[in-house]
Amino acid sequence: MNKTLTIRVTKASQSRLESTNFDALAFGQIISDHMFVAEYEDGAWQNLRVEPYGPMQINPANATLHYGQSVFEGLKAYRNEAGELLVFRGDANQRRLNESAARMCIPEVPEEVFMEGMRKLLEVDREWVPRQPGCSLYIRPFIFAADDYLGIRPSRKYTFMILTSPVGKYYAKPVAVKVETQYARAIEGGTGSAKAAGNYAGSLFPALKAQKEGYDQLLWTDGKTHQYIEESGTMNVMFVINGTLITAPTTTGTILKGITRDSVLILAREMGFPVEERFLPVRELEESLLSGTLEEAFGTGTAATVAFIHLINIHGKDYLLPEKSTNAFSDRILKTLDDIKYGKVADERGWIM
Ligand code: COI
Repeated sequence: MNKTLTIRVTKASQSRLESTNFDALAFGQIISDHMFVAEYEDGAWQNLRVEPYGPMQINPANATLHYGQSVFEGLKAYRNEAGELLVFRGDANQRRLNESAARMCIPEVPEEVFMEGMRKLLEVDREWVPRQPGCSLYIRPFIFAADDYLGIRPSRKYTFMILTSPVGKYYAKPVAVKVETQYARAIEGGTGSAKAAGNYAGSLFPALKAQKEGYDQLLWTDGKTHQYIEESGTMNVMFVINGTLITAPTTTGTILKGITRDSVLILAREMGFPVEERFLPVRELEESLLSGTLEEAFGTGTAATVAFIHLINIHGKDYLLPEKSTNAFSDRILKTLDDIKYGKVADERGWIM
């Protein structure tokens, strides 16, 4: 660590740990006692601090409130059997945050500000990392424009913050998804590959519409032709057809470079499981459902890790997926990932901090 990096710590006068029920954790409802804050002004990140989590003052003219110049990340800390805290692939999240930031004209957060800010926050709030099986501490770094200015231009001031939240399972059961052919999440040349706040706002209306029709989430298709599968809800999506794992490539700028996606692909290739990174035509997906060659479908993301899909609606028709085999790829990959994240197996790939 650079010796000039100073992080001031102000502890909360009263912890909320005692009043938190760690046996009934949902996703994102509880924020831990402290947060990390850094401010960007005059070309430098400064005033680095860990302070009690709580409301902050925002001027109504704050640029983020109007123009959404904001990006975020999501990663998790796990507790191993010895009680140590393990963070999964934090370096990949740090790099992706800066890739998203570049797309939104937001200045980079230096690696040491991200890493040391996160490390200090986890040190202060270490008791917030759940001990309950299957639970973890979700870490939410984010950057937002801090200028009070109604003109449209990249902000000159920014705030970088990290919150943490003890979480349980994101989806309690397998999900039903609907192939979306009217609305688009992303289009080539747009912001789809960035973890930008506005992408998530734009996805709410079509997702809500699908939920009203009885589906949990959408299967997004490409914005131009709506003939190819891109993602599912806020996750990357993968299919096992005839023993091959298929997922969309990240070359068009419309797909989020998911870190769980990347981890699954690396592990699948190590296992010798055939992998194809290609855009799956909706027509091929429907044919695979009709012929029974679609074996598995699942979303991948930090929040859910692996979200099993049990039903797919295509052009108004519901297709149930077959029962998973006892040796299903998605079950094996979820277990392998969990074993790595909870430190049950050696960290051969340098994924754990
Ligand atoms: C993730 O799973 O990585 C996400 O970004 C989900 C989050 C929007 C709740």
